[in-house]
Amino acid sequence: MSRSYDVAPSAARLTQSLRDIGYNFHTAIADIVDNSVAAGATHINVETVFEPNGSYVLISDDGSGMNQTEAVESLRFGTRRGYELNELGRFGLGLKTGSFSQCRRLTVVSRSHRAKCDVHVVTLDLNRVARDDSWAVLADERSPAIERAVDMLQEAPGTVVVWEDLDRVLPDRYAENGWGRRRLTSLASKTSEHLAMVFHRFIEGSVAHRSEVVIAVNGEKLQPWNPFAPAEPDTKALPQQRFEIEADGGSSFVKFRGYILPARDRFSSSEEFDRMSGPLKWNRQQGLYIYRADRLVQHGGWSGIRGIDEHTKLARASIDFDTNLDEVFQINVAKMKVELPPSLKQMLERPVHELSVLANDAYRRSANAGDRKEASKSAASQVALHEVGVALKAALLEENDLPSFKTAVGTLRRRNPDLADALGL
Ligand SMILES: Nc1ncnc2c1ncn2[C@@H]1O[C@H](COP(=O)(O)OP(=O)(O)OP(=O)(O)O)[C@@H](O)[C@H]1O
Ligand SMILES: [Mg+2]
Repeated sequence: MSRSYDVAPSAARLTQSLRDIGYNFHTAIADIVDNSVAAGATHINVETVFEPNGSYVLISDDGSGMNQTEAVESLRFGTRRGYELNELGRFGLGLKTGSFSQCRRLTVVSRSHRAKCDVHVVTLDLNRVARDDSWAVLADERSPAIERAVDMLQEAPGTVVVWEDLDRVLPDRYAENGWGRRRLTSLASKTSEHLAMVFHRFIEGSVAHRSEVVIAVNGEKLQPWNPFAPAEPDTKALPQQRFEIEADGGSSFVKFRGYILPARDRFSSSEEFDRMSGPLKWNRQQGLYIYRADRLVQHGGWSGIRGIDEHTKLARASIDFDTNLDEVFQINVAKMKVELPPSLKQMLERPVHELSVLANDAYRRSANAGDRKEASKSAASQVALHEVGVALKAALLEENDLPSFKTAVGTLRRRNPDLADALGL
């Protein structure tokens, strides 16, 4: 029998290096919310609490919750479990990698029993992991934030994820001043914007076989941000197309649907046009919106099929794929990015080209509409100028000062003939 060595990773070193795999505050929260959605939650609350030297974040849900064993397992890097088709989880990592990208102490508080108020509290603390170089999960830790989480589960099952020691969010020197408070507030507002976008189908209630999900950030219920502005009467949805993609376990269909959004002058209001411009604004929000099991993983850009162009800024398209295509799409741990498989890229070239031609046309028609508006505005101002000229002439006639008026008109004609014409002099 050949010899082998079981080389377990160093907990201290691995947890440290996994802190920097590309999350930011709002994408990390989205990864926690993923788990709540996967657990069948219908209400999810994100709370950011500023406390001098003790700020914390709570993400709570009313999903199925976890029993003691599951709660402990949830804190394993690489949770051992299987997944159904189109479950949002994949790597068994998001809870840990997302949380530790922002904080040093992660606690899972959970209750799965409907009748019995059995609340489990398990913690992974990076200070302990570093000190002992071990993966030890601590039981029944207590702090004001954890107490609040336990209180939240007194009535019904669910889970609360607690982030404490927010070293990446509020570095020490800012932990207690006004800058820290403002930073937390601005991160919360960015989080609202991000969650309203990536989970918009869940919030709208448009996901098959699931009731709508209410997500609130600091008590404020999120309105879905649907990139295709379906409520706008002038949004044009093109017919859906399907493309077959080969994967290891057989083939699967990817859905593509193009949309031409209305230009500003055809939107129901200017405010709505601005709201629909999105986090990166119209120009950079054109392009593909890629959904994995109804959760948005990439928003905007053409994935190398074509370039961003002002003239096609009204073009957006949805691409939908199932989790059995995860590997071909190369979904990353933070669920923020995919690679279009080369065969799909090729098949999409034509529909994307057709979409951009239509978008270009809509853009130019609206630009012309803009010109017409400018032209009619300038016609109106010509009439007004003419009236000024007539009124001026009449006033000077009344004053009996026609000779000096004629001299003045002569000078104006020489200096600015267009204006003299417009004034009708
Ligand atoms: N809010 C929750 N409610 C119920 N179970 C949860 C919750 N959060 C986490 N879990 C459990 O913990 C496990 C680990 O979560 P984690 O996010 O680390 O991995 P994952 O969701 O399985 O995969 P991924 O790395 O793709 O997110 C989940 O698979 C789930 O079983
Ligand atoms: Mg997850």
